[in-house]
Amino acid sequence: MKSDITKLLDRDNYENMDQKPVVPPIYQNTLFTFDNWEAIDKAYDDPTNNCIYTRGKNPSNDIVERKLAELAHGEKAKLFSSGMSAISAALFHYAKPNGHIIAIKNIYGPANNFIQHYLVDKMGMSVTFITGNDLSEFEDSIKEDTCIIYLESPSSVVFSLQDLEGVSKLAKKSGIKTVVDNTWATPLYQKPLDFGVDMEVHSCSKYLGGHSDIVAGIAIGSEADIDQIYNHEHAFIGGKMSPFESWLLLRSLRTLHLRMNQHQKSGMKVANFLENHPEVSKVYYPGLDSFDQADLAKKQMTGFTSLMSFELVTQDLNKIKKFVNSLKVFQIGVSWGGFESLVYVPAISYLKEMSPETFKKTGLSLSNIRISVGLEDSEDIISDLNNALEIIRE
Ligand SMILES: Cc1ncc(COP(=O)(O)O)c(C=O)c1O
Repeated sequence: MKSDITKLLDRDNYENMDQKPVVPPIYQNTLFTFDNWEAIDKAYDDPTNNCIYTRGKNPSNDIVERKLAELAHGEKAKLFSSGMSAISAALFHYAKPNGHIIAIKNIYGPANNFIQHYLVDKMGMSVTFITGNDLSEFEDSIKEDTCIIYLESPSSVVFSLQDLEGVSKLAKKSGIKTVVDNTWATPLYQKPLDFGVDMEVHSCSKYLGGHSDIVAGIAIGSEADIDQIYNHEHAFIGGKMSPFESWLLLRSLRTLHLRMNQHQKSGMKVANFLENHPEVSKVYYPGLDSFDQADLAKKQMTGFTSLMSFELVTQDLNKIKKFVNSLKVFQIGVSWGGFESLVYVPAISYLKEMSPETFKKTGLSLSNIRISVGLEDSEDIISDLNNALEIIRE
């Protein structure tokens, strides 16, 4: 049995290639042609598994799909043009007319908006949002028409976890499908399908891509589910991944284990530094022993990456702005998981969408600062944070 690392570095050539280039070429073609009627007729016997037209199967995409399915212990995977495209396809796939969804409160904002403003407002489904911290919350929320439990573990902003094994068991008993956004941990550090989750979805625009040059997504699950997604949600909505971006993603996967190892090492150092700083009141990072769900984190993940958030003691908006503007190594930006250190304050976008009073009701702090710790020297990263914290202490 090969290790994950060796599998990630396995030969990437496509099955029909005569030569063996160490890096496979990009199949930047819209269609595949056939020698005769019989050949295309045969391909159409199994269009899901034959290259006919690039909105369907394309070798550059196929190589990455197979690699990520194997890493996640899934039977099959489908790439999409973005993480949101993969998330909406997975939810459409398991949606039922007038069905009920249970979702975690702090899921990625656009996924929340998709559920509320599309599946509920336009398709007549209903949703119950829960913190997901306790299995009894799931149990209490299940209704006769519940068809999907949508998880994100760790979740956005406060990085709380759900018990993947417990939730999957509960869902299976009631015939409910489970989907988890596994972007934070990547399939290297967390394998939800092993815990019984039906489908995992990712934004490949974060750690999987890792170089801040790809926007992509993937859904991984059973062959039956992914083939249906391929023929329905992927084919109809057409959120196709570009072969060039697949080629870039394959490049990224070759260093995934090295990058993640460094992200996690620096992430842990930074979290420890922040936790002990007097200007910081709380750190949200599943890798810390002080994290509320540290035991669950160790049970279902094998690594902790480097995306975290923390709260400053001050709630003075001017001081919060001064802290962010004083950072030099960290760049201000909304994404995460790339080689570069990034800082973002969720309140910036929340205060555009809601009044300060409604924001208060979310329970989130104005001073919640999210950082994605990059691959720079961790001493420089910590010194940058320390300088900015000293500036607001003055
Ligand atoms: C947790 C999480 N899931 C999904 C997405 C959506 O991914 P994409 O931007 O590739 O559509 C994001 C993007 O920030 C995210 O943070």
